[in-house]
Amino acid sequence: ASLKSLNSFGIDAKAKTFYNVPSVDKLIDILKKYHGHPLFILGGGSNMLLTKDIEALVLHINLKGIEVISETENTVVVKAMAGENWHNFVLWCLKQNYGGLENLSLIPGNIGTAPIQNIGAYGVELKDIFVSCEAINIENQTTRTFIKEECNFGYRESIFKQDLKDQYIITSVNFKLTKTDHQLQTDYGVIKNELASHGIYNPSIHDISNAVIAIRQSKLPDPKEIGNSGSFFKNPIITAEEFKELKHNFPDAPSYKISEEYIKVPAGWLIEKAGFKGKRFKDYGVHNKQALVLVNYGNATGKEIFELAQLIQKTVKWVFNITIDTEVNIF
Ligand code: EPU
Repeated sequence: ASLKSLNSFGIDAKAKTFYNVPSVDKLIDILKKYHGHPLFILGGGSNMLLTKDIEALVLHINLKGIEVISETENTVVVKAMAGENWHNFVLWCLKQNYGGLENLSLIPGNIGTAPIQNIGAYGVELKDIFVSCEAINIENQTTRTFIKEECNFGYRESIFKQDLKDQYIITSVNFKLTKTDHQLQTDYGVIKNELASHGIYNPSIHDISNAVIAIRQSKLPDPKEIGNSGSFFKNPIITAEEFKELKHNFPDAPSYKISEEYIKVPAGWLIEKAGFKGKRFKDYGVHNKQALVLVNYGNATGKEIFELAQLIQKTVKWVFNITIDTEVNIF
């Protein structure tokens, strides 16, 4: 089976054996039947670059359902199954007037993969509204609930990428959202500006969602039109010392302070300064509105995009002496 329509980069890699997984029971059956086989867990396919055909058994996690599992006067806990599309879930919650997800509007991907990299945008991360998730242990097929404290969430990081990598399949996630007294996050200048341009100074969660959607649509290519995986790299975190040196050589370098010791530098800026923004080679290249995004204009191979990524990493290292790591998983 071709995986072209199942990965947002639109790479035409093939799966030797492919299973659609519509229920947890079916998932457990397959894990028992294929115990010991190498597996490839496919969610929304929005954070991966396939550089070759997949020999492992591909499991497309297609578990569906959204339900309220408890509520108080002011808050609600909503459970979403792993195969639900992230943005559809955000829209469903907005329709009920549940707050907390509005800044995370229009992020590609599915519910089940969102905790793995602790998705985030515009000052909010998944961990801010995450209560717990359920996951199946691949080795012994038991179900385990992970509460937030057990997930070791960090910037695009969690235990599922670290100590427990490839050991669990997340089947559902519980989120705690607000019904009243929504805690709005509008610190990001771009959001304030977008709202102000519509004369909105007292925004609702719906206004914020609309602003985020407008900003994302203006910078990030729609994977349905141009294949991509959002940010290809993580924003590097460097020491204050290293930042001083960067500022000395490049006085206009932007930054976000993380602590007294650490500074985050936008990789998009580094890549743009290194001369890659908008560059196109054959059918692949660097997006012209956001240099952090690599794109497939149609028939690029994963290998070509991977080689471009390596060239970018090498050049950024050479120009700035800063290492940028990939955010996207490469297979
Ligand atoms: N910039 C440039 N040139 C570029 C792109 C960015 O100079 O081509 C500089 C500008 O100074 C700009 C700054 O970088 O002000 C920040 O850019 P932007 O607001 O687009 O955010 P980002 O740091 O590049 C991160 C996340 C995005 C998230 C946005 C908004 C990562 C790896 N990326 O990007 O997440 O939407 O912030 O919060 O942290 C994703 O993970 O796939 C993703 C899209």
